[in-house]
Amino acid sequence: MEKSLQDAQAYSDRWLDIIHADELAEDTGKWVIEESLHNFGEHFNQGWLNYRKSVTEAGDWAMTEWSGCGAQFRDVLGRTFIDCLGGYGMLDLGWGHPEVVAAVKAQLGRSPMPSQELIDPLRGVLARLLALITPGDIQYSFFAASGTEANEGAIKLAKMYTHKSAFITSVNAFHGKTMGSLSMMGKADYREPPGVLYGGPVYHVPFGDAGAVERQLEICHKTGVGVAGVIMEPIQGEAGAIVPPDDFWPRIRQATRQYGALLIADEVQTGLGRTGKLWGVDHWDVQPDILTMAKSLGGGVMPISAFCSTPEIWQVMMYPNPFIHTTTTGGGALACSAAIAAIHVTLRERLWEVAAQKGDYLKPRLEELAGRYPDIFKGITGKGLLLGMHFHDGHVGYRVSSGLFKRGVLVAGTLISANTVRIEPPLVIQYEELDEVLNRLEDTLKEVNQSLD
Ligand SMILES: Cc1ncc(COP(=O)(O)O)c(C=O)c1O
Repeated sequence: MEKSLQDAQAYSDRWLDIIHADELAEDTGKWVIEESLHNFGEHFNQGWLNYRKSVTEAGDWAMTEWSGCGAQFRDVLGRTFIDCLGGYGMLDLGWGHPEVVAAVKAQLGRSPMPSQELIDPLRGVLARLLALITPGDIQYSFFAASGTEANEGAIKLAKMYTHKSAFITSVNAFHGKTMGSLSMMGKADYREPPGVLYGGPVYHVPFGDAGAVERQLEICHKTGVGVAGVIMEPIQGEAGAIVPPDDFWPRIRQATRQYGALLIADEVQTGLGRTGKLWGVDHWDVQPDILTMAKSLGGGVMPISAFCSTPEIWQVMMYPNPFIHTTTTGGGALACSAAIAAIHVTLRERLWEVAAQKGDYLKPRLEELAGRYPDIFKGITGKGLLLGMHFHDGHVGYRVSSGLFKRGVLVAGTLISANTVRIEPPLVIQYEELDEVLNRLEDTLKEVNQSLD
């Protein structure tokens, strides 16, 4: 490719016109698709295009997203979808929630980013709101952009506070893909290629097995390995909406206290209502020492994440060096304004209760379908609107997701396997939309089932 500053300027100019356009003409829409395919393949990641076959299976023109509202979005040619993927948990409030967008627009006109030197009010407001709504003694927060950064902060905080270096995590866990969080992940596909990760010991135990956590803590204690923290998702998301037994969280809370390790709840996907409680740990009335969140914290409008902890633990973030943990762009005013609005809407609408009710509506209906198609399904798992459809094999799961996609429903396969497909729509999805998803799923299942005969 010949490099040219002039071409770059002209190309960005053309795209700014498109960004500012209210509507796209059909020929512009087709041009956008062709350009996007080319750009992804040549400049972003060809593998994504090869992997996401469902986007091209739907017809001659690959689906290229453009705009959305509530639980529906449309592509550049105006084809609409019901979103049951919800940005992998980022879109609790749906696409472009008007109150979040309005708050961000207002802040945008004033000051999008902080000076870095004065006190920026919104950061403090958001930290106070989180202190008000997080469980137990949690009172302090630090803001970044992504879930993985929040977990990196949690890992560092646990190490600094305990002066220990080992962590206990779970098989199939998903905590993010930067080095520390990746070390806590429980999937070889992502851990193995980069090789040695976090320098301290990391022990993986089966998720939901409180006895395994207790044993590992005891072994570490007997062998003189200091455990800084036990990090778990309240309900495993990427692993396929796996709910632990009811004794799991209370027992690991007790065991971590006994051995002086911190309990870290990764609420990046479960937080802010998704599973039918405001926080996933609320299902078991457990108060973690550190809680991390991201995804829907930005209301589906801005990227923002947080790790939060108690005044006692936060001392090491403040003294002797208050700049021990910083990031220039994290927790900027735009991101904070989005999070303040997102929390406001979540509390006003009591969205966790909405998620519980809609989950209670959807899950038995999915179970009924799974019962009727036992050759396709292994079962349904999850709580609230974090539900997992488990299939006998990845091929069948893929056919169900692509069948749904052809029928205008987007669902979430786990990142590299379709054995399990998650249903995690925006919490604002309408009951009529849920019925429509169930109809289209039934249609898909009939088709897939016939081909199994
Ligand atoms: C439980 C959990 N933790 C951490 C992450 C990483 O978040 P991010 O992709 O924003 O880095 C994810 C992402 O799916 C997640 O589900």
